[in-house]
Amino acid sequence: MPVAGAAELLIRVSASGVNRPDVLQRTGNYPVPPGASDIPGLEVAGVIESGDAVAMSAAGLKVGDRVCALVAGGGYAQWCVAPVGQCLPVPDGLDDIAAASLPETFFTVWSNVFDRGRLQAGETLLVQGGTSGIGVTAIQMAKALGARVIATAGSDDKCAACLKLGADHAINYKTQDFVAAVAELTAGQGVNVVLDMVAGDYVAREIECLAEDGRLVIIAVQGGVKAGFNAGLVLRRRLTITGSTLRPRPVAFKAAIAASLRARVWPLLQSGSIQPVVHRVFPASEAALAHTLMESNQHIGKLVLSWA
Ligand SMILES: NC(=O)c1ccc[n+]([C@@H]2O[C@H](COP(=O)([O-])OP(=O)(O)OC[C@H]3O[C@@H](n4cnc5c(N)ncnc54)[C@H](OP(=O)(O)O)[C@@H]3O)[C@@H](O)[C@H]2O)c1
Repeated sequence: MPVAGAAELLIRVSASGVNRPDVLQRTGNYPVPPGASDIPGLEVAGVIESGDAVAMSAAGLKVGDRVCALVAGGGYAQWCVAPVGQCLPVPDGLDDIAAASLPETFFTVWSNVFDRGRLQAGETLLVQGGTSGIGVTAIQMAKALGARVIATAGSDDKCAACLKLGADHAINYKTQDFVAAVAELTAGQGVNVVLDMVAGDYVAREIECLAEDGRLVIIAVQGGVKAGFNAGLVLRRRLTITGSTLRPRPVAFKAAIAASLRARVWPLLQSGSIQPVVHRVFPASEAALAHTLMESNQHIGKLVLSWA
């Protein structure tokens, strides 16, 4: 049984979200940050069992409330400790399965697309991997906050799913060159922000896609860590290349993202403008099957484990 310390609370977990970083951790490619539980799982939803009363009260939370939480590990468990600042109330109308699918991608997309990438209403975002857990969140959040969205995906069915989620355009990167497609869709102007989860030889091509003062935000390196690109374009177009990983960042950093999400995005979940996309729910005892499905890349949106 994990024990909640100062500014933490203990959650009786009913659902745990599955994310690609869990697969990377399982295969030995994503070390657990110092101090974090080595049990996989970065997000949970459930009921507050106990915790630091002062910190909970300051956050407007109390024992018995339903919350979802971002955690640095330990999410695949019936009991999970989370920092109070990384917990958010379950939005009205959502069950715990839907709520457990939110934290990891919502925190990551907010931090990378809106904080680091500074995406503004009226600008255009290119989302690679539009049907990934990250992608379905990025498409909906960017659209709801007034941006135009172009998404890529690896099949026509996945492209159709991106359009259904609100993307203005979807590019099947297996049958189309996304650089040429973006040039055509933007009348040669390019996009303002690219959310990249591929890296490798994508970086050079993404730099070609960027408009003047464009921002490339790298959140994963599925295509490899080494990239060569035309540095002249970076100068001429005044481009910014950035990236980040959420998991090792301090609690205060994640709590600041939680506050932004609560103010700007939770009302959009509450109104239904943004909806959780849960592809499939597995009993927690079948976590291995959930990982197999994720590794097959057949899913659209999120996979969730249920402890019911
Ligand atoms: N930096 C961070 O803080 C952070 C946080 C969370 C997740 N991540 C990373 O973000 C990525 C998505 O995470 P997730 O949990 O949402 O995983 P996921 O649902 O398993 O998505 C992975 C996606 O990658 C896409 N993909 C693979 N190769 C591609 C390519 N060449 N071009 C375009 N898309 C490609 C796949 O789509 P297709 O079938 O269409 O190819 C699939 O949808 C993972 O790499 C994960 O490690 C980073």
